[in-house]
Amino acid sequence: MKPSLKPTRPEFSSGPCVKRPGWTPDALAGALLGRSHRTPAAVERIQAVLDTSRELLGMPSDYRLALVPGSGTGAFECALWSLLGSRGVDVLAWESFGRGWATDVEKQLAIPGARTLEADYGELPDLGAVDFARDVVFTWNGTTSGVCVPDADWIPNDREGLTLCDATSAVFAMELDWSKLDVVTWSWQKALGGEGAHGMLALSPRAVERLEAEPPPRGLPKIFRLTSKGRLAEGPFRGQTINTPSMLCVEDSLDALNWAKGIGGHSELVARSRRNLEAVAGWVEDSPWVRFLARDPRTRSSTSICLAFEEAGEDAAGRAKAMPARLAEEGAAYDVGPYRDAPPGLRIWGGSTVETTDIEALLPWLDWAYEETAPD
Ligand SMILES: Cc1ncc(COP(=O)(O)O)c(C=O)c1O
Repeated sequence: MKPSLKPTRPEFSSGPCVKRPGWTPDALAGALLGRSHRTPAAVERIQAVLDTSRELLGMPSDYRLALVPGSGTGAFECALWSLLGSRGVDVLAWESFGRGWATDVEKQLAIPGARTLEADYGELPDLGAVDFARDVVFTWNGTTSGVCVPDADWIPNDREGLTLCDATSAVFAMELDWSKLDVVTWSWQKALGGEGAHGMLALSPRAVERLEAEPPPRGLPKIFRLTSKGRLAEGPFRGQTINTPSMLCVEDSLDALNWAKGIGGHSELVARSRRNLEAVAGWVEDSPWVRFLARDPRTRSSTSICLAFEEAGEDAAGRAKAMPARLAEEGAAYDVGPYRDAPPGLRIWGGSTVETTDIEALLPWLDWAYEETAPD
């Protein structure tokens, strides 16, 4: 039977993600449009994004945070190109984004002796095999497989290398252990449903020390340059961005951050996302046709919730296309297809801007769409 109730907000995309509940364009009314981003009032707004992000995330006071160009990719590339090269590198790759970073490290940066520790979709690589005498590159939450690291206990406090963590789909929905992370990056449009194109880059004191003491053995384009005359360039960490940001997006980001503060801060963001995962998990238990792609429940993402079909082969591949299309046609769910490289299934964003009532309203639609798309 076709369900009668639809999610109020059927946007379940894994990026850009649904905006915060209650958002309307009025939230942007105060944006400093048509003004220079270098005018003191604009720098203040950018600085407010940095300060509010730090506060919400409980970032240690000696970490530095900058707004950088190029969204999540730009922020992480900036870190890879600026920091790597003075020692070996271990890259952890268990889905598309991690594999992309591995390609960068091995082929583009061509770091001598770089290793990639790999696992297939649904699994994590052997975290015990990581060599922390090297720099370590990993993704906290693999957005395309719905597999995340369960914690940071596998990272030693006394590591010699740096840890570079792409936290794009984790940062406002999972507990990060900052003391274990030297570089953390994210974007605005993912975790809090902001707008695209802007990246956030956090650096630990050890990462800053590396930047200053061991400059990379390569030239860097202007948009990646974090140092000036051998010292950390202070501007980007004080709201004076390397190039021009969108003040409309800055306003929107502030709106999202203030919403997050208003509902109770980071712990409430995490709790909202967990509730979304729990709603899906309860339904998966009762649904014979579907399972989590993540094999180990401790590694199940609460943000990019990836499901695999129990059936295999062409039928599964066909359904992974037909189901999302059918759901979108009905206006019941948008963008719930799997990532292009991932096994056939569904991917539902359950981050903190998603209401659990909308997830609950979605679930009967998934059963319906499965029946509707049965092969002849
Ligand atoms: C884990 C991860 N890293 C990086 C990116 C790239 O982010 P952006 O599109 O903001 O550059 C994404 C986007 O989905 C992601 O999920």
